[in-house]
Amino acid sequence: MKEIILTGDRPTGNLHLGHYVGSVQNRVALQNTDFDKFYIMIADTQALTDNFNNVDKVKNNIIQVAMDYISAGIDINKVNIFIQSQVPELFEMTSYFLNLVTVSRLQRNPTIKEELKQRDFVKSIPVGFLTYPVSQAADILAFKTTLVPVGEDQLPMVEQTREVLQSFNNTYKPQNPIFNTPKAFLNENKICQRLPGLDGKIKMSKSAGNAIYLCDDEKTIKEKVMSAYTDPDHIRVSDPGKIEGNIVFAYLDAFAKEEHFKKYLPDYRNLDELKAHYRKGGLGDVKVKLFLNNILQELLAPIREKKLELEKNVNDIYNLLFENSLKASLVAKATLEEMKEAMGLNYLKLLK
Ligand code: TRP
Repeated sequence: MKEIILTGDRPTGNLHLGHYVGSVQNRVALQNTDFDKFYIMIADTQALTDNFNNVDKVKNNIIQVAMDYISAGIDINKVNIFIQSQVPELFEMTSYFLNLVTVSRLQRNPTIKEELKQRDFVKSIPVGFLTYPVSQAADILAFKTTLVPVGEDQLPMVEQTREVLQSFNNTYKPQNPIFNTPKAFLNENKICQRLPGLDGKIKMSKSAGNAIYLCDDEKTIKEKVMSAYTDPDHIRVSDPGKIEGNIVFAYLDAFAKEEHFKKYLPDYRNLDELKAHYRKGGLGDVKVKLFLNNILQELLAPIREKKLELEKNVNDIYNLLFENSLKASLVAKATLEEMKEAMGLNYLKLLK
């Protein structure tokens, strides 16, 4: 059976390099495989669970994220990019799934735990936020998804989805299986699964202010690269340097290819040679940073230009998103009908 692929992002800001290596790159590769269906959902309703008092932010970023996808290489002829809130069936499904999950199970979800801490929600947890993994299970199951390309922090969500599926099957025993069992799909390159921030913090994110955005201009990219955290003890060029925790090398792990060495740094054949020299001493941070800057400029220039092009016809993109959402809604509706049938909620049919 061919894969049904679904993934998504919350529209709370422009996409950055963490999104690019953690998921966008994978999606672009996947769209060239022989799949059955491929959906990318802009999770505006999920974004509201911690931005309910900032609707404008979520609303404005829907179009930004859509344009980021397309400019980063998502092919709209192959992939259905749609808006979560425009598929109301997802929320009806969520209501039924909520009965199958306990509060304590949600509180044990590692991603939720972490996010509650970050948002200062620990003492007073909004119900919508705590239960978004259940709504995410609906997102995934509604389309009978088999493959969910995501970053590492979404693994607990896919796990939770499989539990909801099991529980649904155990409780309602559908005669024919309704859903597929979804698998997460991670980038094999470890560093890509959780790209650290420019400041050396564990994760690149908008809220930490340590991100390079796909649409940053040339000058901003260079400034950010030059400010990246390296090894604080590497003071003189001749000092031996540390690679571990050094953000510039972390990014080179994620982005540098041998062809970049040929083009921008021909004194070294590959990253291992560069690292060895840095460890030994005699290699300055500036040289390594300028190399990284060249690589990132080469990657980001075409993305930025494509986005400027798309911005001239924003209405076309809105139209595409709405049409795609209608198509997605029909698929979700069919699954919802099957669910209700299995649950014995087909009262209206009984009347006929
Ligand atoms: N939780 C994801 C994020 O934080 C967004 C998301 C919502 C998602 N529904 C999904 C991802 C379904 C994959 C599949 O960005």
